[in-house]
Amino acid sequence: MRPFPGLVDDATGKVDPEFAGVVEAAASRARVVDFFYGDPDPALVDAVHAGGALVSWQVGSRDEAKAAERVGCDLVVAQGTEAGGHVRGKIGLLALLGQVLDSVRVPVVAAGGIGTGKAMAAVLAAGASAVRVGTRFVAAAESEAHPRYVQRLIAAEAKDTVLTEAFSTGWPAPHRVLRSSVEAAERFSGDVVGERIRPWAPDERVPVRRFQSTGVTKASYGTIDAMSFFAGESVDGVKDVLSAAEIVRELAGGAENLLRPMRK
Ligand SMILES: Cc1cc2nc3c(=O)[nH]c(=O)nc-3n(C[C@H](O)[C@H](O)[C@H](O)COP(=O)(O)O)c2cc1C
Repeated sequence: MRPFPGLVDDATGKVDPEFAGVVEAAASRARVVDFFYGDPDPALVDAVHAGGALVSWQVGSRDEAKAAERVGCDLVVAQGTEAGGHVRGKIGLLALLGQVLDSVRVPVVAAGGIGTGKAMAAVLAAGASAVRVGTRFVAAAESEAHPRYVQRLIAAEAKDTVLTEAFSTGWPAPHRVLRSSVEAAERFSGDVVGERIRPWAPDERVPVRRFQSTGVTKASYGTIDAMSFFAGESVDGVKDVLSAAEIVRELAGGAENLLRPMRK
């Protein structure tokens, strides 16, 4: 499956010119351009390289990682099913990481359920080159997440998350979310749970449909509890609102404290 249907021409393998422009603009400004959800695509890889950036592909299986390396990706992100938000694969991070590390030579970033220095140390010790962290940063001081969503993350534990296809309106895919948001959407009667303003169209309020997978931001209005509260098992690490820098320091410092003695 192409990651973004219609954006790469199946017959010619050429990227849609408008999208190629977007990719190249991103590649000329960022050091890494990352793709997710779809078969690794050489046309997209070439477009990023032409713009001067490295290409990363987030994957959920060993085969997908091998395909990413084959088409020229510079690194892969192995996403375990513990991850918050859209989930690609079928297995947990440690099993996946082992498979991917044994299958590719490019650097492997570990993602999914990493919310503490302990978890970060574990995957680095296993051979990951870096970690990707999502849920912890939803509760960062700089985040645009809705305060109610942040409050729910702080109160939740890993067991309060669920991998579900409930929030498939707009994007039929498994997501890991807070179970409370599924239950609230199930209780809700009606088709529209609220509205939101998207950053790129500040004058327009668009409806948020029941069971729609969507970002829940400070510009979301209505029955917030019934919106898709993406959360990984890493939610255990969300105990307070900290700045992004404090989160990075906490994770990296915790991992370093655990790994340093092992190096002696
Ligand atoms: C609120 C939220 C939104 C996300 N949105 C995206 C996205 O737009 N694109 C993407 O590739 N991954 C997205 N992810 C998944 C992350 O890339 C990553 O796999 C995940 O956050 C790692 O697990 P963690 O949340 O337990 O740290 C999102 C995750 C969360 C929590």
